[in-house]
Amino acid sequence: MSLFDELEQIRTAALQALDEAATREELEAWEKRTLGRKGAVTLQTRSIGKLPPEERPAFGQRINVIKQELEAIYTTRAQAMRHAELTRELAGGAVDVTLPGRPVTPGHLHLTTQTLRQLYDIFARMGFEVYESPDVELETYNFDLLNIPAYHPARDMWDTFWVDDQRLLRTHTSPGQIRAMRERAPEPLRVILPGKCYRYEQITARSEHQFYQIEGLAVGRNITMTDLIGTLRQFTSLFYGAERQTRVRSSYFPFTEPSIEVDIDCILCGGKGCPVCKYTGWLEICGAGMVHPVVLENGGYDPAAWSGFAFGLGVERPAMMKYHVKDIRYFYGNDLRFLRQF
Ligand code: PHE
Repeated sequence: MSLFDELEQIRTAALQALDEAATREELEAWEKRTLGRKGAVTLQTRSIGKLPPEERPAFGQRINVIKQELEAIYTTRAQAMRHAELTRELAGGAVDVTLPGRPVTPGHLHLTTQTLRQLYDIFARMGFEVYESPDVELETYNFDLLNIPAYHPARDMWDTFWVDDQRLLRTHTSPGQIRAMRERAPEPLRVILPGKCYRYEQITARSEHQFYQIEGLAVGRNITMTDLIGTLRQFTSLFYGAERQTRVRSSYFPFTEPSIEVDIDCILCGGKGCPVCKYTGWLEICGAGMVHPVVLENGGYDPAAWSGFAFGLGVERPAMMKYHVKDIRYFYGNDLRFLRQF
């Protein structure tokens, strides 16, 4: 038999075997056997050398034509088989549209926001409205108009992030006092000013360079220190519980006169002394005082006829005390294991 006839026989046998391959495995085995590196058709190229030179090109071309023909049929059959398999899977219900969807996990309010809202609620009951003032503040509002001129050493109490020569990130919410007074004077007012404050400070377990404060301000015709202390007592008993004791110490702030600081008995040890209260039995909760006459005047009120009180409460610190959070850095650490607890 000539080499040409042999080649045609291989082709016929391969076509028949291809026709008989019923599964994908059989089809793949056929491909390897026929067109693979050592497949029957591929091996035919080795016979070329046995032919007289003039017949070689024709033989080579015939091999190529057969290869292409077989490959084309093989590809079509492989695709058809894959298609049939998928159709069978679909018909067999592999996609179960009745499966419940993936649950959406709803978020919740940050501990700071929850605490702020508790505070709004408590002060709203005492007639305070929420008044917002800007985070980027003018130097005059943050300092000068609060009776802290540039040369005064009291400025050292607030390490400051400056934006430019005249603007800064407010170091406390007190500048809002001036804004609220200038807007409302000469009417009586009772507001709380919540917001973020910024200080150029070392970050530690107890202090962050950003934190919230809530300022309180009441201006009226007969406001006294008794009103201030009564308001803060009411606040501590509503926020920390009626059993909490309060204590008032004298203090100094340039914008209040007289100035006080208010403590509560330590929540952890009940006043016996522990590391949290540094063995004093007391925890400081706010600075406060009667609005300084100069500040009243800067706000547009006549200090001879008007008086007022102001206080500045932290927000994270009270939350730390109430929920026993040991490190203030958790508030801005974005660790869900912390946040999910509240
Ligand atoms: N602004 C003061 C501070 O940040 C707190 C304060 C507010 C004191 C109002 C007295 C009156 O430290």
